[in-house]
Amino acid sequence: MITVTFLSNGGRTATTAESTSLLRLSIRERGGIPFKCGGGLCGTCKCRIEAGRENTDAIKPKERKHLTEEQFAVGWRMACQTFVTGDVSVSWPPPPPKPGSPAA
Ligand code: FES
Repeated sequence: MITVTFLSNGGRTATTAESTSLLRLSIRERGGIPFKCGGGLCGTCKCRIEAGRENTDAIKPKERKHLTEEQFAVGWRMACQTFVTGDVSVSWPPPPPKPGSPAA
């Protein structure tokens, strides 16, 4: 059984019996990783593997369009392109402030 911990969603956890993409599991289990296209195009699903990086599959060419080697080196991946093969903990940046909000 594979357990994914969604650190930026209060440590919510989800389990899966077989390897799946981080984004697919996040959507199915309401993990909260942000996304738009689901196909490696938009760059919305950037996330950081905080633990268990060895339990993710190889970096895909589409990920290289959105992330640098330095970012890969510290655990950044695209959730829609990353398959998990074992337990991982993942975080992601907060959404940008909405136009018109006090923080914008
Ligand atoms: S959701 Fe668009 S790149 Fe992953």
